[in-house]
Amino acid sequence: MSIEKVGVVGCGLMGHGIAQVAAQGGCDVVVVEAEQGFLDKGLGRVEKSVRKLAQKSVEKGKQSEEEADAFADETLARIHGTLDRRELADCDLVLEAIVENLDMKKELFRDLGAICEPATIFGSNTSSFPIGEMAQASGRPSRFVGLHFFNPVQLMRLVEVVRTDETDDEVFAAARAFGEACGKTPVACKDTPGFVVNRLLVPYMVQALHMLERGDASKEDIDTAMQLGCGHPMGPLTLTDYVGLDTTLFILQGWQERYPGEPAFQVPAILASMVAEGKLGRKSGEGFYKWEGDKKS
Ligand code: 3HC
Repeated sequence: MSIEKVGVVGCGLMGHGIAQVAAQGGCDVVVVEAEQGFLDKGLGRVEKSVRKLAQKSVEKGKQSEEEADAFADETLARIHGTLDRRELADCDLVLEAIVENLDMKKELFRDLGAICEPATIFGSNTSSFPIGEMAQASGRPSRFVGLHFFNPVQLMRLVEVVRTDETDDEVFAAARAFGEACGKTPVACKDTPGFVVNRLLVPYMVQALHMLERGDASKEDIDTAMQLGCGHPMGPLTLTDYVGLDTTLFILQGWQERYPGEPAFQVPAILASMVAEGKLGRKSGEGFYKWEGDKKS
């Protein structure tokens, strides 16, 4: 069972990166968006990132300029954007990277279950929702996995491959091989809240927010402490800005609803109030810090 044609639904922060690494891995990719404006923006990001990686490859002496340009052109030529989900019908794998809303994801998979050929494997890039619930909605639970990539997809080397009790062994193996083809190291996870990374990372970010609320240390000192004391590339508050305060809040709210007794999943007041003020982090230009594009200003 090999994955040659991949559909990606959603061309935002995660979807554009997944489409790119799949195309870099040699797959033909169909990207579906709800509106032309979102599609154009996402594909524009892919083009910028592909060209940037080509330039870096030349600078590092890994490829000649001609080789790097040819690889970039081939990658971009493998990606086709559309607003029509029906173009996903003959994909080997369709991956969802839409907004973190379980009802919308289930609705999407119900629709895809009717559109796609019976052999098509479905995957969700959800950070935190149960894979099993989407698998049931799709009508093909044995052909369903979680494929959780990390932000920025082009640079982060991990993919979590999540299986439910019903995932077929061959489907899981094909999803793992796809992750490897995308240049990632796969880890196998069960369908538990947050899988491995977010189950550890989100409560850690929450603790940093509580420290800030209590005034234990300044935001800069909390971040510096974790960068220099633990070798993390970003401190927890910078990382919360980078991931998005809204995304972090959605994850916590989903968990809190399902596991009300778990203290690690309580929403810090500062997070809810900043999201209400529109301070979403990097994507809105301000969170705990001010941002210009990908950089703190
Ligand atoms: N495509 C191509 N190139 C890119 C790029 C992209 N998408 N993003 C960054 N780059 C380039 C930059 O332009 C830069 O190029 P330059 O050296 O020519 O200027 C180079 O890559 C390195 O970028 P930075 O200068 O920003 O350097 P850093 O060394 O700080 O690396 C980082 C950036 C990889 C983001 C690093 O800071 C990091 O690893 N941060 C932690 C990220 C993390 O933890 N992610 C996981 C979040 S949790 C998650 O995703 C799960 C979700 O479910 C919540």
